[in-house]
Order: sequence, then C-alpha cells, then structure tokens
Amino acid sequence: MDKVHDVAVIVGSLRRDSINRKVAHALAELAPAALKLSIIEIGQLPIYNPDGDEEPPAEWTGFRERIRAADAVLFVTPEHNRSVPAALKNALDVGSRPYGRSAWSGKPGAVVSASPGAIGGFGANHHLRQSFVFLNIAAMAQPEAYIGGADKLFDANGVLINAGTRTFLQGFMQAFDAWVAANARS
Ligand SMILES: Cc1cc2nc3c(=O)[nH]c(=O)nc-3n(C[C@H](O)[C@H](O)[C@H](O)COP(=O)(O)O)c2cc1C
Repeated sequence: MDKVHDVAVIVGSLRRDSINRKVAHALAELAPAALKLSIIEIGQLPIYNPDGDEEPPAEWTGFRERIRAADAVLFVTPEHNRSVPAALKNALDVGSRPYGRSAWSGKPGAVVSASPGAIGGFGANHHLRQSFVFLNIAAMAQPEAYIGGADKLFDANGVLINAGTRTFLQGFMQAFDAWVAANARS
C-alpha cells in the first residue's frame, strides 16, 4: 500500500449529539486504508487574541503542533446563521497565527457540511473555502458535499443507515485520497 496519510478532522460543532460528528465518524469508517482520520478537538481553544501570542496558552500551541504534523485537513461542519460556526472560525484563527507561521499553509483539504435543512450547510461550506484561499489550504473542488436532511440519516447508535449517502461519502473519500496523494508534502 502507498504511504498512509494522517488527516486531521475538524468538526465544526461542539454539540454532544452532533450530526456532523456522526458524519465525521462515518467518513473515517468509509475512507480508504491510505487515509488515517483523527478528530482534533476545538472546543477547548480560548478565543483567539493576538496579545495571547506573547505567552500562548497550551491549548493553542498543542492545536497548532497537531495541525502542523498532519498531512491533510478535513472539515465537517454545520452552518450557523448561513456561515461558519464561531468555534470553527476560532480554530482557523488560532491555527493561522502568529503571522507568518500558520499551521494550515500548504495542506490539502476538503469540506463536508451537514444540516437537517435542505441546503446542507452550503453557506458555511463556501465561507470556509473563502478562508482557505488566504490560509493556503488546497481545497478539493469536486465532489462537493452538502448533506441535507442529515438528521434522518443515522440510527439511534449514530450509524449511517442511508445507503445512498454511504455510497456518496465513500466516493468522496476515494476522491479525497487521490487529492491528498497528489498534493500532500510528505
Ligand atoms: C446558532 C445556530 C445557527 C444555525 N443556523 C443555521 C443555518 O444557517 N442553516 C442551517 O441549515 N442550520 C442552522 N442551524 C441548525 C443546525 O444546522 C442544526 O442545529 C444542526 O444539527 C447543527 O449541526 P450539529 O448537529 O452537528 O451540531 C443553526 C443552529 C444554531 C445553534
């Protein structure tokens, strides 16, 4: 088998019963063996303030080091008020600083958004992509993944039971595997 790539998965929801966290677990299950997915938590990160970089909190430095070590980044997020949830935007900001030492730069990445609503978090998905341009995250363009009606896709144990969505997400992860293999720096 080719090199196994370490994929840092960032879930944009802090909710205990998050649908997006279930989607992230399903993606880990469906991914080809050459991708090793790990969820990197963001709920513990203090709100970013540049003053803090004089003596950065351990949560910031630990997060930055973990992102720096990853071969690729995968974002799985809900939409909050048609945009990126605050906790996720904070994680992007924490990882991006101090200026000139961004942990994100040069990583291949992808976005999956999921919502009970019909448009599947499209607004969050595309606002994230806007930040990726500045952060120099090479975002996979296709396939796009806006998972609508996502509250109906899982059973009581959090298992993805919708066959069509399983097939779609499996294809998404195969495409991401090829994207990471082509764009990862190691
Ligand atoms: C502050 C807030 C804003 C929201 N705004 C949107 C929205 O713009 N679009 C949408 O589809 N759902 C919106 N929702 C509903 C979320 O999609 C829903 O709570 C979903 O379950 C969140 O994902 P999670 O289960 O992974 O936490 C919002 C929820 C919250 C708490």
